[in-house]
Amino acid sequence: MRKRLIAGNWKLQNNSSQTTELIGKIIALTAGAGGVDTVVAPTFTSLHAARAAIGSSGIGLAAQDIFWEEKGAFTGEIAPAMLVDAGCQWAIIGHSERRQYFGETDETVNKKIKAALKVGLKPIVCVGETLDGRESGKTEQIIEKQLVGGFKDITDFSQIVVAYEPVWAIGTGKNASPAQAQEVHAFIRTWIAKNVGKGAADNTRILYGGSVKASNAAELLACPDIDGALIGGASLIADDFSAIIRLSVEK
Ligand code: PGA
Repeated sequence: MRKRLIAGNWKLQNNSSQTTELIGKIIALTAGAGGVDTVVAPTFTSLHAARAAIGSSGIGLAAQDIFWEEKGAFTGEIAPAMLVDAGCQWAIIGHSERRQYFGETDETVNKKIKAALKVGLKPIVCVGETLDGRESGKTEQIIEKQLVGGFKDITDFSQIVVAYEPVWAIGTGKNASPAQAQEVHAFIRTWIAKNVGKGAADNTRILYGGSVKASNAAELLACPDIDGALIGGASLIADDFSAIIRLSVEK
């Protein structure tokens, strides 16, 4: 049984007091909703406030990115152990916005996953095709390349979460249909089975991300290989994010 995981990627939004307020509302609105893992990923500068606001609620704290070196002359970067120190248990790695705007490659994704695992941070590893990729029929080829490169030499998947986020569905209001999403999720699970092992395939959570809202979450989550969601826009609205968390529990 894979426990559902609902993660909010807050991107470049919210200062620390807004983060505190949002977390407070989510805690109040999801009171009593057990049986689902909830994770939030505020900006680095709000992690401290987020940790305090989370308190003993059980909400997990994620960094939106991570660097692979432990220390040194890397101006502007944040080491994995520093994220642990700031209260994170999770790290989003390889988000398409990092790939698109900040030169993230499968090779750097691989280094980041290894660095996260080394300090006990659980990676949420994002993969996904662009619109061009989908329209030219290369979705599986693109995803496979990201999986092969991103997970090079990684054989222990016990701490890994994969997020399938079609780039064309992120922030566009166009979500993948449940059938489209399920097809790619099944492809990812089969890839894990072949390359890591059947146990890993059975136990690894694969999240869907890309315009998930309270109104479409239930049908996406009903798919057999969709184990949760990585949510941007809707996770910034306490009512919507909490509704998705509650509906995941009910399934
Ligand atoms: P969205 O973002 O829900 O706003 O489409 C998802 C993501 O980027 O993780």
